[in-house]
Amino acid sequence: MSESTVTTIGCIGAGYVGGPTCAVIALKCPDIRVHVVDMNAARVAQWNSDKLPVFEPGLDDIVKECRGRNLFFSTDVDAAIEEADLLFISVNTPTKTYGHGKGRAADLKYVESVARNIAKVARGNKIVVEKSTVPVKSAQSIADILKANRTSQNKFQVLSNPEFLAEGTAVRDLLCPDRILIGGEDSADGWRAIQTLCSIYRRWIPAERIITMNTWSSELSKLVANAFLAQRISAINAVSAVCEATGADVSEVARAVGQDGRIGPHFLQASVGFGGSCFQKDILNLVYICESLNLPEVAEFWLNVVSINDYQKQRFAKRIVNCLFNTVAGKRIAILGFAFKKNTGDTRESAAIYVSAHLLEEGARLTVYDPKVDPDQVIRDLRHVTGQPEAVRDQVEVCADPYEAARGAHALVICTEWDVFQTLDYRRIFAAMPKPAYVFDGRKILNHDELTKIGFEVETIGKRVRHVSSSHPAAITNGIGCGEPEPEAAAAAEADH
Ligand code: NAD
Ligand code: UGA
Repeated sequence: MSESTVTTIGCIGAGYVGGPTCAVIALKCPDIRVHVVDMNAARVAQWNSDKLPVFEPGLDDIVKECRGRNLFFSTDVDAAIEEADLLFISVNTPTKTYGHGKGRAADLKYVESVARNIAKVARGNKIVVEKSTVPVKSAQSIADILKANRTSQNKFQVLSNPEFLAEGTAVRDLLCPDRILIGGEDSADGWRAIQTLCSIYRRWIPAERIITMNTWSSELSKLVANAFLAQRISAINAVSAVCEATGADVSEVARAVGQDGRIGPHFLQASVGFGGSCFQKDILNLVYICESLNLPEVAEFWLNVVSINDYQKQRFAKRIVNCLFNTVAGKRIAILGFAFKKNTGDTRESAAIYVSAHLLEEGARLTVYDPKVDPDQVIRDLRHVTGQPEAVRDQVEVCADPYEAARGAHALVICTEWDVFQTLDYRRIFAAMPKPAYVFDGRKILNHDELTKIGFEVETIGKRVRHVSSSHPAAITNGIGCGEPEPEAAAAAEADH
């Protein structure tokens, strides 16, 4: 018994996962025709244009090389289903916004509609691969829908093959992944389907990095991997609050802790809070699963990862207001970076949205600059989160360069760790700002000593920075960040002197 040969791959969902994943498969398997389809015609048109809908370093070149050769983008979902031997389901699985499980469970309506479409259109043998992130046992629902529509002409195998790419490094992650996970049915047909998918990945990924397991372990592993990553960020962010209150420096603590081989140095960068379309959604999904399984203590454990993240965003936003003498009404504030991380134009769940909304609510005027985010997207996000389109129209300006955003601003707020922010001419920026001029570095990427020398008042995450001005609220409160000092923190600050 051996794997079957794949000549045509179909992928339903041309988003951040479907597009880049299939581009890399097409690059590495030039003999396989890869057809990526989406019901969103505008998105498909972008995939067929010079301006791809997704910004990822290295992706343009791969798409250019493969598109029209063995990589095709279209809206013809039925054609992709008919012609493919193997079909990836790569549609979105957002948090439910209605009905039972609202705000927690994953909304599987897109996955189900794809499964029904496959059941309706497919003829012959197909391997259906669940690439979207889904709750445990979703493959069963897909298999049940397919089985209910099975005829003598078609036969299906359903596999779980979750994706682990991170935005901004998608191409690198796809070319050289830490692991490929494939879960399948424990049967001869299941084994053959697993081997068939393995044979595609083996074209460029060493066999030892391709892990096979049962379907439910594979589905759960994806949720757990994201939960673990997010948990580390919330852990270090929780520590950052302790650092600000005590005079410890969270970067030093992270370095000391991460040097322990058992802990490791990755994902210990304290920040204004994690964003992105998946961490929060997948943890909430895990919480919902635990609640459904009557495991309230486990649900509570994971929910705290999200709660700390909300706390961190809120803490940072409040600190900006406190430091600016407890009012930002009418003040101009420059938001530098709007994407949820560098090297992507994606703003889903970006901390910048939350921080901006808080400042708008306090009456600030915002000038926003991000090197990759579409200006319309900034406005859409802020309208959506505030529910106040007029306020956004009157109070927000999206700028084409960082100097324009900073001109006349009382404060610069770094929300995304774009490299370009490290090399700006801060003397020039300082000269064009009213004094005292503030920098709130939510990403810990700037040279705070240099900025302080220039004359900026600098606030950052998890560290107290020496202040130049004696009128600075932090100076008044014994150097304990801005705002109200906690009693323990005040005592610690006293001891510092
Ligand atoms: P996305 O929203 O960017 O793309 C999903 C696409 O599916 C959309 O373009 C949508 O129009 C299309 N779609 C939905 N239903 C369809 C249907 N019935 N027929 C045709 N097209 C349909 O989502 P994404 O970021 O690519 O994420 C997809 C899945 O992968 C999610 O489950 C997500 O959790 C998971 N994931 C995402 C990332 C990431 O970095 N974004 C990484 C790993 C896993
Ligand atoms: C994350 C995972 O890293 C991927 O493995 C996974 O496939 C993906 O989610 C998914 O399922 O969607 P992504 O959200 O694209 O990828 O980006 P990350 O690099 O994980 O960053 C997420 C957020 O955490 C960003 O806002 C980032 O700035 C923040 N972060 C990351 C920190 O604040 N500190 C860190 O140390 C690391």
